[in-house]
Amino acid sequence: MHPKASGTSASEVRGEALQRVIERYGTDPEALVEILRSLSEQLGYLSQDDLVAVAKVLKLPYSRVYGVATFYSMIETSPVGTHTLLMCEDAPCHLAGGADLRRALERRLGISFGETTADGRWSLRTVSCLGRCDLAPVVMIDGRWYGHLTVERLEAILARYEEEEG
Ligand code: FES
Repeated sequence: MHPKASGTSASEVRGEALQRVIERYGTDPEALVEILRSLSEQLGYLSQDDLVAVAKVLKLPYSRVYGVATFYSMIETSPVGTHTLLMCEDAPCHLAGGADLRRALERRLGISFGETTADGRWSLRTVSCLGRCDLAPVVMIDGRWYGHLTVERLEAILARYEEEEG
């Protein structure tokens, strides 16, 4: 048997994921956001080839697909780390100390928001109001809330994640 016949290549996996998403949402350009969101969720992020494939299937210009993919924060267009930290950047969180948290995070991890650390451990993303202004300033790590944060508490939370992973 040819060695390739027994395995599934990365591009086949991505192609199959797109097929599943299209089976679910169809090829109506109106479903573009949902298609990209669902595909991003399944694949972790969308590469340029993925966006080209979506444009082809939906018969849309690549520029439109690219524009939508890069507009929505829940659609990733670059590889994400093991942990994704979402930081609310709206006024209530910002005024309650969010700006200090943001600076401390960038300093500690050595990356800017929108980037992933070289070791692939952390991705930093900003989002609009997370709907928990009562906990301002708020961040979400892998879907879990952390509120009323100070720089010290946030440092301790990151250290705990890192300790647990060794
Ligand atoms: S403004 Fe930050 S959660 Fe609402």
